[in-house]
Amino acid sequence: MQEIIERLGEMRDAARAGGGEKRVAAQHAKGKLTARERIEVLLDEGSFEEWDMFVEHRCTDFGMAENKVPGDGVVTGYGTVNGRMIFVFSQDFTVFGGSLSEAHAEKICKLMDQAMKVGAPVIGLNDSGGARIQEGVASLGGYAEVFQRNVLASGVVPQISMIMGPCAGGAVYSPAMTDFIFMVKDSSYMFVTGPDVVKTVTHETVTQEELGGAVTHSTKSGVADMAFENDVEALLQLRRFIDFLPLNNREKPPVRPTADTMDRPEISLDTLVPSNPNKPYDMKELIEKVVDEGDFFEIQPNYAGNIIVGFARMMGSTVGIVANQPMVLAGCLDIESSKKAARFVRFCDCFNIPIVTFVDVPGFLPGTSQEFNGIIKHGAKLLYAYAEATVPKITVITRKAYGGAYDVMSSKHLRGDLNFAWPTAEIAVMGPKGAVEIIFRGDLGDEEKIAERTEEYRQKFANPFVAGARGYIDDVILPHNTRRRICRGLSMLKNKQLENPWKKHDNIPL
Ligand code: HXC
Repeated sequence: MQEIIERLGEMRDAARAGGGEKRVAAQHAKGKLTARERIEVLLDEGSFEEWDMFVEHRCTDFGMAENKVPGDGVVTGYGTVNGRMIFVFSQDFTVFGGSLSEAHAEKICKLMDQAMKVGAPVIGLNDSGGARIQEGVASLGGYAEVFQRNVLASGVVPQISMIMGPCAGGAVYSPAMTDFIFMVKDSSYMFVTGPDVVKTVTHETVTQEELGGAVTHSTKSGVADMAFENDVEALLQLRRFIDFLPLNNREKPPVRPTADTMDRPEISLDTLVPSNPNKPYDMKELIEKVVDEGDFFEIQPNYAGNIIVGFARMMGSTVGIVANQPMVLAGCLDIESSKKAARFVRFCDCFNIPIVTFVDVPGFLPGTSQEFNGIIKHGAKLLYAYAEATVPKITVITRKAYGGAYDVMSSKHLRGDLNFAWPTAEIAVMGPKGAVEIIFRGDLGDEEKIAERTEEYRQKFANPFVAGARGYIDDVILPHNTRRRICRGLSMLKNKQLENPWKKHDNIPL
């Protein structure tokens, strides 16, 4: 017995040592934490239950039979974040570069299967040189087993990827199928083919960081949802993020006690919208003044800035916020913003998170670039996402709601539960100037006449009452009461039940 216990201790020590002191020092020298240190920062102290410490690879080629490290390059198990359970795998770059062997993949799959059974999120901390080169196709099979589980778990439990080192080749496709991808600046990168292949094929010279670093993916490609400065910041923010999410698709969003009263008036909102309709204002100010304690976790803050998406709480309970941002491209919808918001709306709908939408949208962005790149299909994604969503939907139109974009942005017609307008709302087919140019084409008249006709159109349509007369909006509310009206609405909608017709799955325009 004593002997076995000693052996157990030795084996645990060997697994904990990972690739050895030298490689651990190299990992630290790059400013990176080790796989185990990362888990320690992520989880509540002492909550980690590790599995499969003794798993070893089964490869015998290239001298691998004598080259084994218990755990095989990935630390797996479960633990809690602020008392709520999550499953986590953390790839250990000090062991064969965190590369994925058949056994390494089996550890991840075991964890995903269990997470699905008990209904808890799967968090992946990725730091890997990709397929274990010595294993060949066994490793590729392992990847595909993980991919299959990513798809089956999608919409059942939240899946989050934190990229903390290399993630290249086909290995990118597991994170790509998870709900959120976060990255660490300067130490992580993701690409399908690296700079050398790019140079050979397209003759472009590009660094790893430029091609697939955290800044690239969080500003240009939109692949990453956030970029953090370092491992510790990334993991602490991940803890904050997990607090917003239900653990699975059968749970309601978590509730956290708040001192912020539901009927708190916010007088400054009465003057937020400038009297000049062409002058921008910061929609983020509205969001922060309306949600609990101004706590807003924005997703993709540096990508497609014309739409804002993120999580907040109202009366302590998580809500998803979607809002046009008049400060960027006048808040219009384009390809990138439509895709960004559509994916967010679908996430909220999967996980029972009510959606609050703030609208100030002049329409879709015109231009050949938009049309040639398929704004028709991409814009339809957001329309589709809102239309299929059955979670509580509350909409507040602060200013413009023009054209097709009015319909798209959680309108009454797409089963919006409560649609409010501020007195400054303008709900119409288009802006007064454009409308006059079309209605009176060929007989526009002189400047004075145009101004007169524009004013006439403005008087008639640039207000919330035409839509109000048809019941397309439920009420015109005073801006300072916005929080109270939304909170009351959310309380009323707490037990909302709505089901879409049975189908195998839908066919959203992709
Ligand atoms: C086995 C690997 C490995 C791999 C790295 N190592 N990648 N071992 N399989 N894929 C080992 C190295 O041999 C080294 O071992 C240790 O990890 C650290 O690697 P270094 O090269 O010293 O580190 P660094 O300089 O930081 O470079 C990291 C790297 C580089 C850029 C990731 O290692 C690299 O290019 N690796 C190969 C990447 C690759 O081609 N992977 C396969 C892609 S195809 P020692 O013992 O010296 O410490 C793929 C397909 C997936 O992934 C398909 C899914 C569908």
